Amino acid sequence: MEEALYSDLGFFNTDQVRSDKEGDFLTSPEVSKYFGKIIRNWIHSESNLKNIIEIGSGTGSLIEQIGIKEITAVELSSTAREELIKKGIDTHATIDELTTKTSDLIFGNEILDNIPCSIGLYKDEGWYEKVVLLEENSLAYGLRPIRNKELDWINKNNIVPNEDYEFEIQVNIDKFLNSVIKKINPGKILLFDYGYEQKNRDKRMYSSLLRTYKNHHLSVDPIDDPGNTDITYDVNFSSISSELKYLGYDVTLKLQRDFLLDNGFNIFFDELQEKYIAAEGIEKLKINSELNGMKAIVDSNGLGGFYCLIAEKL
Ligand SMILES: C[S@@+](CC[C@H](N)C(=O)[O-])C[C@H]1O[C@@H](n2cnc3c(N)ncnc32)[C@H](O)[C@@H]1O
Repeated sequence: MEEALYSDLGFFNTDQVRSDKEGDFLTSPEVSKYFGKIIRNWIHSESNLKNIIEIGSGTGSLIEQIGIKEITAVELSSTAREELIKKGIDTHATIDELTTKTSDLIFGNEILDNIPCSIGLYKDEGWYEKVVLLEENSLAYGLRPIRNKELDWINKNNIVPNEDYEFEIQVNIDKFLNSVIKKINPGKILLFDYGYEQKNRDKRMYSSLLRTYKNHHLSVDPIDDPGNTDITYDVNFSSISSELKYLGYDVTLKLQRDFLLDNGFNIFFDELQEKYIAAEGIEKLKINSELNGMKAIVDSNGLGGFYCLIAEKL
């Protein structure tokens, strides 16, 4: 996953921007500018947040929509970084490049699901990892005894062995959160992503939650077209909540829909609807499309059903 997404030939480093209408997936800020406007309401409702940093900024749409000056972007993809720099946004490739040592708020949309995971399998009363074998002209899957860190993750998250599942092991998300906190000690963390709570894993009908996307559609097995498909998985938010609690944060988990409704969605929606009634012609069509974008980001069966995690340093 690391190679396929982030190497020089990786999905995020070709000359194409991935997170827009011409790309391979659409995220909330690309669907509706009100996503950022509502986050701005939330930021203003918190007391005087300075040194705000976005991780995994993509094209920078969300920073633009929030519209608060001096939000710094951290973005691994060189293609996306070019877009951010064009927009005049202070941009860095990694957290380690930042000169600041503190931040009142770090936020990110759909970054966790792109942080490479490992795959654990339980078989004949033992844990294994699914690995990718480099064969002469192709890639294939193999099994290896599980590594210690992966096994520790399984144990600390009380994962119940089940031979019917492949388990996405989020060691790298934990490492990432640890390094962010060590480097800039954020007062608050705000993350949005698709995922699930562990108690509900059985309700997901799939044995594996890892999948690929290309041109806005589900695509092939990850090893069939590496570098040309987005590889992603549903994020285990119970694991992230417990890691952040362990790191000294108070954690609130809610649905994206509820976050948006709690922070002024209806006021924006009603204003836009009034404009729609008064508008004519092309203007009316434009407003209608904005209303549809707003409906999409709160739709419980779509983007509104994503999780929103708010962590606050104790
Ligand atoms: C699915 S895109 C989301 C982009 C944007 N946040 C949006 O909502 O449209 C995920 C982005 O996170 C970036 N990313 C992944 N891991 C990262 C990391 N460790 N540090 C910075 N950016 C990262 C990827 O390069 C990619 O641009």
